[in-house]
Amino acid sequence: MNNKITILLNWYHKQAYSFPWRNHYTPYTTWISEIMLQQSQVNVVIPYYILWMKKFPCLADLLQSNIDDLLFLWQGLGYYNRVKNIFQTAHIIQDQYNGSLPNDYNQLLALKGIGDYTASAILAIGFNIKSTPIDGNIKRVISRLYELDLSSIKVAEIKKYTSNYISDTEPRYSVQALMDLGREICTPKTPKCTTCPLSAMCLSYKNQTTSIFPIRVKSKIIPTY
Ligand code: ADE
Repeated sequence: MNNKITILLNWYHKQAYSFPWRNHYTPYTTWISEIMLQQSQVNVVIPYYILWMKKFPCLADLLQSNIDDLLFLWQGLGYYNRVKNIFQTAHIIQDQYNGSLPNDYNQLLALKGIGDYTASAILAIGFNIKSTPIDGNIKRVISRLYELDLSSIKVAEIKKYTSNYISDTEPRYSVQALMDLGREICTPKTPKCTTCPLSAMCLSYKNQTTSIFPIRVKSKIIPTY
């Protein structure tokens, strides 16, 4: 196996960050956890995820619920459209796919509330099929590793670089290793490069440019009238 991939996987297994969505993997549990994690911090999501899986351990249980039950469980997590989409999509999965999430990128993408990131995360983490979900943490890690200017690069290009770090046999762990690395080590300010398993292959570390990368897309200036 490629050296980069092995180093990252070894680091992941050694750190063993423990989250309830890592106890047991199904496409359904990954779908729910990734939607919860999209706009919320991991520590905030933990109790919501535990309670959800206690009530609805699989899609069939979710189908017995109504939207008010779900909104109640989601209370405090915010961005309530997320849970409304889960409810609608659960019924579509039941009708179109016999109650099982499809393992096809385009079919996942066609489902309400599932964009490129979530479709790729469900494939990689839930199905353990090689795929490259690109979230803010992974973007930062990859941008620094290769000194990529994020203001001028397309997501497809970032995915190509990211795939160098994703194992063919354990994509689930490689992807979550990059997420952990971005959250805990390769932080936006004062990254902990001396403890980073990838520092030997990181251009930003070598050239001391971690404060420059990632160069971000400038947000549009909203004119005031
Ligand atoms: N952020 C988004 N998905 C995550 C996951 N599976 N583990 C940890 N942090 C995440």
